[in-house]
Amino acid sequence: MSALFTPIKVGPFTMQHRIVMAPLSRLRSDVGGMPTDLAVEYYSQRASEGGLLVTEGVYMAEGGNGYLGVPGISDDGQIAGWKKITAAVHAKGGLIFAQLWHVGRVSHSDHQPDGGAPVAPSAVPYEGVAFTKDGWIPSTPARALETGEIEALIVAYRKATERAVAAGFDGVEVHSANGYLLDQFLQDGSNKRSDAYGGSLENRSRFLLEAVEAAASVIGMDRVGVRISPSGEFGGMADSDPQALFTHVAQQLDKLNLAYLHLIEPRVFGNETNESKDQKIPVAAQLIRKHYKGLIIAAGGFTPESAAQIIEAGDADLVAFGRHFISNPDLPARIRAKAQLAAYNRDTFYGGQEAGYTDYPFLGANAKAA
Ligand SMILES: Cc1cc2nc3c(=O)[nH]c(=O)nc-3n(C[C@H](O)[C@H](O)[C@H](O)COP(=O)(O)O)c2cc1C
Repeated sequence: MSALFTPIKVGPFTMQHRIVMAPLSRLRSDVGGMPTDLAVEYYSQRASEGGLLVTEGVYMAEGGNGYLGVPGISDDGQIAGWKKITAAVHAKGGLIFAQLWHVGRVSHSDHQPDGGAPVAPSAVPYEGVAFTKDGWIPSTPARALETGEIEALIVAYRKATERAVAAGFDGVEVHSANGYLLDQFLQDGSNKRSDAYGGSLENRSRFLLEAVEAAASVIGMDRVGVRISPSGEFGGMADSDPQALFTHVAQQLDKLNLAYLHLIEPRVFGNETNESKDQKIPVAAQLIRKHYKGLIIAAGGFTPESAAQIIEAGDADLVAFGRHFISNPDLPARIRAKAQLAAYNRDTFYGGQEAGYTDYPFLGANAKAA
C-alpha cells in the first residue's frame, strides 16, 4: 500500500498521498443551487492533510443542470456557500477542485431558465432521465446549439472559473465524461454537426479545448484538470472509433500542462460496476498513458490493492475513489491502517439529509482490521 502514501506534485500543490475523492453528485443542495451547511460538514469530514477532493458536478451555467439538488457556480450568489466548504477543507490541510459540469441533453425543460428544450451538439434521439420535482423522468428532447451559443458557453466556463477562484477553490476540473455536454461533442454518436465543432476529431475536440483554455485564462493551466471516460457508454454514448478519438484528445491535452487528466475506466457504468466489461484490466489508463505524459488520475472500481498496483505499474499517478469515499469519510486513514472499509448504501446516494451523507462512522475502536 506504500505506493499510495508517497508525496506528489499536482500543479503548484504538493499532495501527501495519492488518494483522491472522486466527484460525487449527492443531490442535497438548496433551491437555487446553493450548497448547504451539511455539505460543509460532508466535505470537511472527507478532507485530509495533503489530500485532493473533487467536488460533485457543479452546474457552470444556467440550463446546464439536469438533476434537482445539484449545486451551482453559475451565479455570484452561490459563491458564499462554496466559501464555507473550501475554508473547511483548507482548515484540514486539504485541497479542493470544483467540477464544472454542463449536462447538455441529459436535462429537462424544468431545469431550463425559459422552460425550453435542453441543448446538445445535435438533436439526436436520446433515451435518458433527468431528476425533477416529479422524480426521475425522461429527459426533454434536446435542440442543437447554435455556433454563437457555444461561444457564449465558453465565456460561461471562464466566468464559472472566476467564481470558483472567488470561492477559494484550488482549481477546477472540466467535466468531459459520462455522456454530458462536452462528451456529447467528442463522440460522433451524439455529434452530427457540420460547423467547426463537428465532423473531424479536431473539430469534435474543439469545445473541450476551448473550455479548458477559458478556465486556464483565469486560474492558470496548472490548476485545471479534465475528466474523460474513454469507451464509456453511460448516457447513451457511442463513437465510431473511440480509440482514435480518445488518443487524439489525450495528445491534444498533453500539450497543455494541465494539473491532471482524470480517466474513468469503462469497467464502471456511471455509478455502478459494469458487469459486461473486464473487471481487472484498466484499459483507459493503459491506452492514454502512451499519449499523455502529465499526471493521470485513474478512477472506476478500484480497491486499495488495485490502486496501489496501478501506481506501481506506472499507468496512473493518483487514484480517485467514489463509492468507497461515500461510506468511508476517513478513507486515506483507513487505507493506511489497512482497516476494513465500510459498505455503502446505494439508497441514500441521492437526495435526503444526514442519513448516508454525514453519518458514516470514522475509524474507531470498533473498526476491524482487514
Ligand atoms: C452517487 C454517485 C454520484 C456520482 N456523481 C458524479 C459526478 O457528479 N461527476 C462525475 O464525474 N462522476 C460522478 N460519479 C462517478 C464517480 O466519480 C466514479 O467515476 C464512479 O463512482 C466509479 O468510481 P468508484 O468505483 O470508486 O465508485 C458518481 C458516482 C456515484 C456513485
